[in-house]
Amino acid sequence: MQQLNNKRVLLGVTGGIAAYKSAELTRLLIKAGAEVRVVMTKAACEFMTPLTLQALSHNPVHLDLLDPKAEAAMGHIELARWADVVLVAPATADFMARLAGGHADDLLTTLCLATSAPIALAPAMNQGMWLDSKTQQNRDALIERSIKLFGPSEGSQACGDVGPGRMLEPLLLIEALACCFENRQLDGVHIMITAGPTQEAIDPVRYISNHSSGKMGYALAEAAVEAGATVTLISGPVALPEPERVRIIKTVSTCDMHRAVHDNLDTVDIFIGCAAVCDYRPEVPLNEKIKKNPDNHFETMTLCLVRNPDIIASVSAMEKAPFVVGFAAETQNVLSYAANKLSRKKLNLVVANDVSDTDIGFASDSNEVTVLGEYIEEALPRASKKVLSGRLISLIADNYTIWKTKQEHDDKP
Ligand code: PMT
Repeated sequence: MQQLNNKRVLLGVTGGIAAYKSAELTRLLIKAGAEVRVVMTKAACEFMTPLTLQALSHNPVHLDLLDPKAEAAMGHIELARWADVVLVAPATADFMARLAGGHADDLLTTLCLATSAPIALAPAMNQGMWLDSKTQQNRDALIERSIKLFGPSEGSQACGDVGPGRMLEPLLLIEALACCFENRQLDGVHIMITAGPTQEAIDPVRYISNHSSGKMGYALAEAAVEAGATVTLISGPVALPEPERVRIIKTVSTCDMHRAVHDNLDTVDIFIGCAAVCDYRPEVPLNEKIKKNPDNHFETMTLCLVRNPDIIASVSAMEKAPFVVGFAAETQNVLSYAANKLSRKKLNLVVANDVSDTDIGFASDSNEVTVLGEYIEEALPRASKKVLSGRLISLIADNYTIWKTKQEHDDKP
């Protein structure tokens, strides 16, 4: 059920006996990696307590359209925007009728009107109610509006009748829901990305660093999430908003970043080193601010620098190394220096970045790169870092898949 990993599912629960199954449904959605927020109608609360669904979804349950406290936390429009998909299970005959009629008289119907996310219903009702011509008209009207219907199934019902109207079992429902999302290139893949600069303290108020803004690495993290990956972003100090759905670990110095990478590398499939890491640090950062000698205008100062660990080389040197992608920011002989880094640091791919052109590279909004690997050399033309990141992630995913297949083949006895 990889397609549901990281997806935001808004689960609507309406008032039918099948509401008891929404507890299992919530549990399975969470197990599949989805983030779940539950909206219950008044009648649903007669069959299932909000507290149960709150505990299972790890989020407060939303009940009323006109609740100022809930609106202050996450209003109905924000909830409608938050969802990647809305699933109403169970959906009663009354709810279907209200939705088909375009009503907005409670939180759930209002959300369904406001959202641009796909909506799916799992009808659950007595077989006579399901077969009634009015319900069938509502069903057709909802399908006409591209609302998906999962089920109902046939069988014996709580009221003793036998026929169509049973809610689909939770496992079948989440399988159907997973099909709403394309099977994207990086579903189920864990990517770690380093981004931004590192800072090396000279004294409590000064440091050595570089011009990296973090824009490239942050754009890559967003593109990887869009492709379905689970993303850990190890960031140096930057002034960018945190990307959504990304686990972010903030670091300052190269040694911090090195530690954060190795402490979180366990399940990583692809490592992308986009950070502009300081190669050297002052040997001993001073505890007190350095003062200049007021009597000597000709004084000089010498900083003794020592080498920092090479983070990316330490990752690719691991026995069970992930697929490793490096960046090479160069001002001359860009491709040959990049090719040298590819082999010296034992990378799978290197992204060559000509930073002598100030419109691309450090702190700019655009970039233009050439990707080198053992068997590829592909130039990606100038584009915004956002657009370029989508292309880069797709290229990295293709090469990762080939590498992984080869590894699995080589591992076979
Ligand atoms: O952040 P932006 O303003 O958007 O700018 C983007 C960028 C120019 C920083 C980015 O596109 C880029 O090119 N990043 C790599 C910058 C760099 O300085 O690379 P390098 O040539 O020093 O290092 C080569 C590779 O080794 C890189 O993947 C780097 O992350 C890694 N490295 C380097 C030194 C070190 N001690 N540890 C490392 O992991």
